[in-house]
Amino acid sequence: MIISTISVLLTLVLTAMIIGPVFWGAPWHPASRKDIHRALKLCEAQPGERLYDLGSGDGRVLKIAAKDFGMDAVGLEIDPIKVWLSKQFLPKNEFSNRVNILRQNVFEFDFKHADVVFIYMTHQALDQLFPKILETLKPTATVACYRFCLRGIQPEKVTSDKKIFIYRFNKGKSLNAYS
Ligand SMILES: C[S@@+](CC[C@H](N)C(=O)[O-])C[C@H]1O[C@@H](n2cnc3c(N)ncnc32)[C@H](O)[C@@H]1O
Repeated sequence: MIISTISVLLTLVLTAMIIGPVFWGAPWHPASRKDIHRALKLCEAQPGERLYDLGSGDGRVLKIAAKDFGMDAVGLEIDPIKVWLSKQFLPKNEFSNRVNILRQNVFEFDFKHADVVFIYMTHQALDQLFPKILETLKPTATVACYRFCLRGIQPEKVTSDKKIFIYRFNKGKSLNAYS
C-alpha cells in the first residue's frame, strides 16, 4: 500500500516536472552534451563571458559552459524542483563557483548582461520571448537556439543537421565606454 502510494506520488511529481512547464514555455527535455559543446563552440564562447540558459533544467548547459569554456553561467528555471535538484547535483569545486541557478520565469527577466544566451524552448515560447529580449540584449551578444529556430530571423550559422541555430544581432556594433 505504502509503496504503491509512493510510486503514484513519484509518477505525479515526474509528470509535473516534465509536462507541467509546457504551460510556461517548454516541456523538460535535456539537450545532448555533445550538442551543447557544438553550440558553445559555434558561439565562440570565451572565458569570463556570461551565459544564460533559458530554462536550465538539470543544469547541464551551465556545467559545460563553466567547466569547459570558463564562462560565468546563469540558469533561469521556473520549476522549483529542478532548481533545487540541479543545485544539489553541482559538484563542489572551483568551476561551480561560476554557476548560479535562479528560480525565474524567463519572460520576466532583463538580459542586458548576457554575452551568450542558450535556449531550448518551443517556437511558441521563442515567438513571445524574442521581441522582448532584443530590446535589452547587448549588440555583441550571441544567441544559440537548440532544435527550434527563431521564426523570421536569419541565423548567422546553422548546423547541417539543423539542430543548432546561431544568431548575432547588430553585428559590427560594439559596446565600449563611449557608446
Ligand atoms: C527543453 S528543456 C531544456 C533544458 C536545458 N536548457 C537543456 O538544454 O538541457 C526546457 C526547460 O525550460 C523550463 N521552462 C519552461 N518554461 C519556462 C519559463 N517560462 N521560465 C523558465 N524556465 C522555463 C522547463 O522547466 C525545462 O526545464
